[in-house]
Amino acid sequence: MDADRWWKEGVIYQIYPRSFADGNGDGFGDLPGIIEKLDVLQELGIDGIWISPFFPTPDVDLGYDITDYCNVDPRMGTMADYDRLVEAAHRRGIHVIVDLVLNHTSDRHPWFIQSRSSRDNPYHDWYLWRDPKPGKKRPNNWASIFGGHGWEYDEHLDQYYFHMFYKEQPDLNWRNPAVVDEVRKIMRFWLDHGTDGFRLDVFGAYFKDAMFRDNPTKLGLRYFDRQEHIYDADQPEMMPWLREMRAIMDEKPGRYLVGETFFPNPEKAARYCGPGLLHGTFNFELSNTPWSASKFAKAIQRWETVLAKNAWPTNFLSNHDQARAADRLAHGEDDERLKVAAAMLLTLRGTPYIYYGEEIGMRGPRIKRADIIDPLSKKYWPFYPARDKARSVAQWSGQEYAGFSPVKPAYPLHPNFTKRNVEAQRADPNSLFNFYKKLIHIRKELPALRQGKYQPVSDDPRVILAYLRQTEDQTVLVVLNMGGKLTPFFLGGALTGMKWEFVLSNKRTTLPVLSNQTILLEGEEALILKAV
Ligand code: NOJ
Repeated sequence: MDADRWWKEGVIYQIYPRSFADGNGDGFGDLPGIIEKLDVLQELGIDGIWISPFFPTPDVDLGYDITDYCNVDPRMGTMADYDRLVEAAHRRGIHVIVDLVLNHTSDRHPWFIQSRSSRDNPYHDWYLWRDPKPGKKRPNNWASIFGGHGWEYDEHLDQYYFHMFYKEQPDLNWRNPAVVDEVRKIMRFWLDHGTDGFRLDVFGAYFKDAMFRDNPTKLGLRYFDRQEHIYDADQPEMMPWLREMRAIMDEKPGRYLVGETFFPNPEKAARYCGPGLLHGTFNFELSNTPWSASKFAKAIQRWETVLAKNAWPTNFLSNHDQARAADRLAHGEDDERLKVAAAMLLTLRGTPYIYYGEEIGMRGPRIKRADIIDPLSKKYWPFYPARDKARSVAQWSGQEYAGFSPVKPAYPLHPNFTKRNVEAQRADPNSLFNFYKKLIHIRKELPALRQGKYQPVSDDPRVILAYLRQTEDQTVLVVLNMGGKLTPFFLGGALTGMKWEFVLSNKRTTLPVLSNQTILLEGEEALILKAV
């Protein structure tokens, strides 16, 4: 158990490396930049970092299209920098999780260049090539989740290849043992460099139906949504392979595998998670839930219910593909709601992930259509500008370019950085940053918050989300008022007769006055008490 503590009881922080910190002063974030910021992450209490892809890439999907799995993109550093990063992180008790994008490569990956060079090239079968149907028709009805059909025609080969994402991201053929063998080598390469864990990009899409059958159709908005995805994802071959990946990780204690569930729902996320499978999977419900106590309560309960008894939840409020938590949950520049959300994230059962900037309440900047970087956001403008907004430059200080870089950053920067930045918030005892820090600290202090079972106790679910975290020896009560007004909370029912000690609140520093077993919570107050 001890070796697993960092991912099971600790706190993980996601870094989008291009916009996190620029170590070499060229406006583009890099690995040396991350090294410089490890002290702040250690101060915050972070136990692990997941770094979004930093491998060589032509940048069609901004790093999620890889041309070399065993190297670092020259804009982000070198392998020597990676080794230094691992060493520096480990020295601070911080573990390193690498993002493995194995469903597809870039179309400029040497494997694909070979693969499309001729039908008899040994690499041809590394990707999903099919002959056209009569009349040059596509092999089946499979779609790309990024829009339109999933098949791209190659004139020279007179064949189609399949791409679940952009056409510049051809899907690998996971039924070819040579591909799987190469993946084993890639895993070992990073493990040999001291990597502690992997985040698996869209693992559920690795295997496709061997017979390439058409997906059944249904009603939906986009072409992709008008299909039941029973043949292009979540194939039974996935399970033995996940077990093998897990066995590779288990060769050394304390390694960790977390999967991005493709096309997720909690049930599906739960299916892949547990002993012998992935240590964690991402269930996107919390990151899609609007500001509502009852909706959060439902999402948490559903996750608790679907997970196997011995599976471990993973919780997050946002990531690089979605609107920032502050844009979804906060009111203007006010951070009180974000403190309540942070209290929830860090007191729920499971591994919490903090998306960089969340700890200072970064908002996504306004982005003009002409300035959009992400092709997906361009395509679906104005309905989906989220990805660029969520990937804006980390706001370290009020100096020029937010202390990110001495030159204009490649990624957008929110003009509020002059006030909203790490330096200013570190100096302000009431800041969101310091509230995160306190929450992480109490999480480390109180075993019930790390190991205890989750038990909802809310008596006014419209505005209050309340639950106990309980081990045999300790009971912690978390009461989150998501309403804006003073609201009573009744310490009756299962809580009758219990005595409480103050732990933390964003609105007070001592135990609230109890009258008739009732506490009056301030609007947008997160209150944490410990039973004595
Ligand atoms: C999921 C990643 O999170 C996203 O950023 C990427 O575009 C797709 N997978 C394709 O790799």
